Amino acid sequence: MFPLRRNRRLRTNESIRSLVRETIITPNDFLVPLFIVEGKGIKEEIPSMPNYYRYSLDLLEKEAKELWSLGLKSVLLFVKVPDNLKDNKGTEALNPNGLMQRAIKTVKNAVPDMLVMTDVALDPFSIYGHDGIIENGMIVNDLTTAILSEMSISHAQAGADIVAPSDMMDGRILEIREALEEEGLVNTGIMAYSAKYASAFYGPFRDALDSAPVDALHIPKDKKTYQMDYANRIEALRETEMDIDEGADIVMVKPGIAYLDIVREIKNAVDVPVAVYQVSGEYAMIKAASEKGWLDHDAVMLEQITAIKRAGADIIASYFAKDVIKLLYK
Ligand code: PBG
Repeated sequence: MFPLRRNRRLRTNESIRSLVRETIITPNDFLVPLFIVEGKGIKEEIPSMPNYYRYSLDLLEKEAKELWSLGLKSVLLFVKVPDNLKDNKGTEALNPNGLMQRAIKTVKNAVPDMLVMTDVALDPFSIYGHDGIIENGMIVNDLTTAILSEMSISHAQAGADIVAPSDMMDGRILEIREALEEEGLVNTGIMAYSAKYASAFYGPFRDALDSAPVDALHIPKDKKTYQMDYANRIEALRETEMDIDEGADIVMVKPGIAYLDIVREIKNAVDVPVAVYQVSGEYAMIKAASEKGWLDHDAVMLEQITAIKRAGADIIASYFAKDVIKLLYK
């Protein structure tokens, strides 16, 4: 007797494995998050994100060109806002000459064909570190979405191709879509953070932007009243379907690795591109364990990125984008 099928034949060597491989990573898969600060000549490493940096605008220009030379053609911009410009309503977010608006122009001037996406949320601008306006100890939904719409218009007018609301307020996609249409910004797209979970994996990002919720009386200590409960699956489908109905061009699941069941389910259910955000804590875990010599950095990085794509991600927002492309394509 012998086995009727020998699956190992297709695993004999790397040549045949690469011939039958189902998931291939290319530069086209990636969206590169970039952190931006005021100043000149600044490239500062984020302590909880080794080898990841905040850039001032002059060095952002250089970074954008390097990404482009690697075939990385999409960026997602985040700004670190000085404390003296923060308030409860994100006033500075609407400044036509604010850091985000200048960053958009900087990237577009440096690399005109770079696809520029922008984070639309109040938290980097909020004295409380929240994604919404706070009144009487509560995050007020509809006041917040009004500001997010104005923020989206401001980003689009500065040259953003796609705005990416990451706040999880109800109804914001529809409100942003309508606001953009009314301004004639009909070609500005929306990538909705649709299934964004209240996750402990965002810690290093909040270090990067100095945007953690403040610990004070009458202020919610976490984001659980707007971001999703990680115990929930059906709710992710509902959130995603609603965002598509409201006008989202791309939907997103976030975080990545611990949520690949949700990614697959959403990929099977929707007919728009699905993005996945491999978040800062996922990056930090791989960095920390490999620094200790406990994990093989490159192998684990590639395995996780491939798993995210295999689960159904059409777009992967990842701090590893450059590392992966350098590893695969030299
Ligand atoms: C906030 C925002 C967060 C991230 C992206 N946009 C953090 C949060 O919700 O507190 C997290 C990204 C990451 O951890 O890499 N609007």
